[in-house]
Amino acid sequence: MSDEQKIALVTGGIGGIGTAICQRLTKEGHRVIASYYPPLADEAQTWQQSRIAEGMNIDIIAGDVSSAQDSVRMITEIVNQYGPVQILVNCAGVTRDRTFRKMSTEEWEVVLNTNLNSVFYVTKPVWNKMLQLGFGRIINISSINGQRGQFGQANYSAAKAGMHGFTMALAQEGAAKGITVNTVSPGYTETPMTLAMRDDVRNAIIAGIPMQRMGHPEEIAAVVAFLAAKENGYITGANIPVNGGLFMH
Ligand code: CAA
Repeated sequence: MSDEQKIALVTGGIGGIGTAICQRLTKEGHRVIASYYPPLADEAQTWQQSRIAEGMNIDIIAGDVSSAQDSVRMITEIVNQYGPVQILVNCAGVTRDRTFRKMSTEEWEVVLNTNLNSVFYVTKPVWNKMLQLGFGRIINISSINGQRGQFGQANYSAAKAGMHGFTMALAQEGAAKGITVNTVSPGYTETPMTLAMRDDVRNAIIAGIPMQRMGHPEEIAAVVAFLAAKENGYITGANIPVNGGLFMH
């Protein structure tokens, strides 16, 4: 059943998992805005046309979520055009996989800024309005590798683990105010990000997944839609694994 329409922002909305989340939240009846990294303007236009061809009216907005200033600018534009953000999905993320002995400071910083600092920068300008409205759904897309670590991902694992620390703290601040804050931790999912891995590394990982396959982005989106639903107001501070059984705890 579709929910009462809400304004939903999905950062990294034109990416592999982000796209499925935008499609699913639109099907649930929400007004969805996908943010994209500003240099990807052409890809974002093409992406939007593809959604229109599918019969989905999803708006796009440029926003460098690794910048506090640009995140504030982006949220201000959204609020002016659509109204306050009621569902926020922090999905923007990048990888710079490298063994730690070779990892540069730049590779550390770009991953921490894009995957973790962004969560502060984007959530901060929507939070006070959620408090005033007495309603909010914040869903942080982390990773199995934030839960268990991953060889070659000291930067990414640190950022993704940090996201859930943020989730648990903010969940406590929002709990009595109608705001839920949760983490979804996908395992290896069929997206350009996992396709970029070396074939041998990827195949070895798939062989170790109890379900013997990667996840589909739609399987992540289904959990996000569940957490975003108004009726699911009693789950907060959770970290929901969607990983085919690769990591159980
Ligand atoms: N465990 C233990 N040792 C390993 C290893 C592992 N998983 N992988 C490689 N090694 C060892 C090799 O056997 C080799 O050992 P020797 O030096 O003793 O021969 C050594 O590490 C190779 O070291 P290099 O620095 O030369 O590393 P490399 O260039 O071969 O590969 C890497 C480094 C590219 C980071 C590679 O390890 C890698 O791709 N790792 C996977 C990273 C990963 O899982 N990324 C996920 C991307 S998708 C995503 O992030 C989405 C999500 O949320 C899940």
